[in-house]
Amino acid sequence: MAAVNYGAELIGRRAVVTGAASGIGAACAKALAAHGVWTACADIVSPDQTVAKIEADAGRSIPITCDVSSEEDVLALFARVRQRIGRLDFLVHCAGVIHEKPLLETETKDFDRVMNINLRGTFLVGREGIRAMQPAGGRVILIASDLGYLGRETFSPYVASKHGVMGLMRSWAKEFAPQTLVNAICPGPIDTAMLSSDQMTEEWRQKEMDIPLARFGAPEDIADMAVFLTTDSSRFITGQGMNVNGGSVMP
Ligand SMILES: NC(=O)c1ccc[n+]([C@@H]2O[C@H](COP(=O)([O-])OP(=O)(O)OC[C@H]3O[C@@H](n4cnc5c(N)ncnc54)[C@H](O)[C@@H]3O)[C@@H](O)[C@H]2O)c1
Repeated sequence: MAAVNYGAELIGRRAVVTGAASGIGAACAKALAAHGVWTACADIVSPDQTVAKIEADAGRSIPITCDVSSEEDVLALFARVRQRIGRLDFLVHCAGVIHEKPLLETETKDFDRVMNINLRGTFLVGREGIRAMQPAGGRVILIASDLGYLGRETFSPYVASKHGVMGLMRSWAKEFAPQTLVNAICPGPIDTAMLSSDQMTEEWRQKEMDIPLARFGAPEDIADMAVFLTTDSSRFITGQGMNVNGGSVMP
C-alpha cells in the first residue's frame, strides 16, 4: 500500500527521531525522510543502517548515538542538532524497552530500567525537543502503547511507564498550545524486535494476534500516522492518543 503523498509540504523541515535504529523508529525516520524531512536518527545502538538507507534513497540524515535515559546524552543530542540545523520542527520519540515478568519476580532494578528508559527518557527528550522548537513551536509525537490505556498482568512496569507517557503528552499539549501540538501514537502489536524478543513469551505473542484485524501491525502502519501528525492535515489534533492498533483496544 502506498503512503499518502503530502506533496512538497514537508520538504526542508527538520526532525529528530529516537529509537531510529530499528522497528517503529526506523520506519518513522525513513518515512519522514522520504517526504523530504532532514532527519536526525538517534538510538543507543548505532543507527547507521537507517541513515544509510535514507541516504541511498536521496534523503538527508545524520546518526547520533544517545541513551535517552541519560541527561548528558540527551543534552548532547539536541546540542548537535542545533549546531547542524538550528531550530527543530518535529520530534518523534520511539525509543523504549519492554519487560515481561510477574510482579513478585520483578526486581527493583527491572522497574528502574523500564521507567528510566520509557518515562524519564520521554521527559528528557520531550523537554529538550520542545525547547529546540522555540519560539515558533512544532509537532511532538510520542510513541506510547495500547497498554497506555489498560492494565496487563506481568507487564506492570511497562504499563505504568506508558500511562506516564500519556500523562506527559496530555500535560505538554496544554502547556505548549497553540504553537506546539503534542500527541501520542498508541500502537497495538507491531511486528518488531520488541515482540519477538526473549522478554516476550510465545503465549503472549499468540494473545497479541487475538485482535479484530487478526495480524501484527507493520512498523510502516505507525510511520504513516507519524507523518500525518507532522502535516497540516492534523492541525486541529492535540493531546490525543492515536490508536493504530488493529482494534486491540477501543478506548
Ligand atoms: N512492537 C510493539 O508491539 C509495540 C507496541 C506498542 C508500543 N510499542 C512502542 O514502540 C516503541 C518502539 O518499539 P519497537 O517495537 O520499534 O521496538 P524495537 O526494539 O525494534 O525498537 C526500540 C528501539 O529503541 C532503542 N532503545 C532502547 N533503549 C534505548 C535507550 N536507552 N536510548 C535510546 N534508544 C534506546 C533500541 O535500541 C531500539 O532501536 C517503543 O517505545 C515501544 O514501547 C511497540
